[in-house]
Amino acid sequence: MKDKIALVTGSSRGIGRNIALRLADIAAGVAIHYKSDRRAAEDVVRRIKEEGKQAAFFCADLTKESGASGLIKNVEGKFGKIDILVNNFGPVLVKPWEKVTAGEWEYILRSNLGSALCCVKAVLPDMRKRKWGRIINLGYSRAEHLVAFSTITPYAIAKTGLLILTRTVAASVASDGITVNMVSPGLVEEGVFPKDRNVPKGRLGKFEDISEAVLFLVSKKADFITGTNLIVAGGWKT
Ligand SMILES: NC(=O)c1ccc[n+]([C@@H]2O[C@H](COP(=O)([O-])OP(=O)(O)OC[C@H]3O[C@@H](n4cnc5c(N)ncnc54)[C@H](OP(=O)(O)O)[C@@H]3O)[C@@H](O)[C@H]2O)c1
Repeated sequence: MKDKIALVTGSSRGIGRNIALRLADIAAGVAIHYKSDRRAAEDVVRRIKEEGKQAAFFCADLTKESGASGLIKNVEGKFGKIDILVNNFGPVLVKPWEKVTAGEWEYILRSNLGSALCCVKAVLPDMRKRKWGRIINLGYSRAEHLVAFSTITPYAIAKTGLLILTRTVAASVASDGITVNMVSPGLVEEGVFPKDRNVPKGRLGKFEDISEAVLFLVSKKADFITGTNLIVAGGWKT
């Protein structure tokens, strides 16, 4: 992975930040993306540079198609290519479904599903040319469950949709040397879901648990794995 360049969306904080820092350990460089907290993004870049790796930060609103295509263009302009794309940005809305406004519905679908579609479409032409690529979409541990979710309805729909998108793109680019997979966290320390402590493993997930799954799926060892959903939830409601 020493010559690879990675882009992690929403990497100024949280799970995305940890994934970016871990990818920096194995790759040549990492593009850090944020929406409003420039100082946080700068801090991640500084940490990566201190380890002697390349890093730069990029601002983009990924709820807009132009934001996504502009981000990919700017990162390719700076680093010359993107080998690894991690579609991490994906906010949660916890609210009874009857109270969700049309604007909130649109925002959750756009941010979790639309942003990934737009980033994937923008990054694929160059990956296809170079016959190598890794795309990871962040899901959540129940994305495969086709059941009622009354308090996270648009989020659950978006993540299940993202899994369908993951498998669709995986099949269409498999012969181009590109793998597309999903990593699905459950309850996470410092996470956004209400803390139900009934995790069979006996603890909440750590950011590192999720990053390890991403690191495996982008590695050369995982070359034959595509279209899969790797649930990282300690057995919680899976
Ligand atoms: N955390 C959990 O408990 C949990 C559990 C299961 C699954 N997941 C999934 O794991 C992934 C990461 O979750 P997370 O909670 O760590 O972070 P997140 O809320 O999905 O993302 C935070 C990042 O997104 C950026 N951002 C905010 N608004 C944006 C916009 N309009 N356009 C582009 N970027 C924007 C933020 O930048 P600024 O700070 O600059 O605004 C920050 O870098 C998500 O896909 C989530 O659904 C999380």
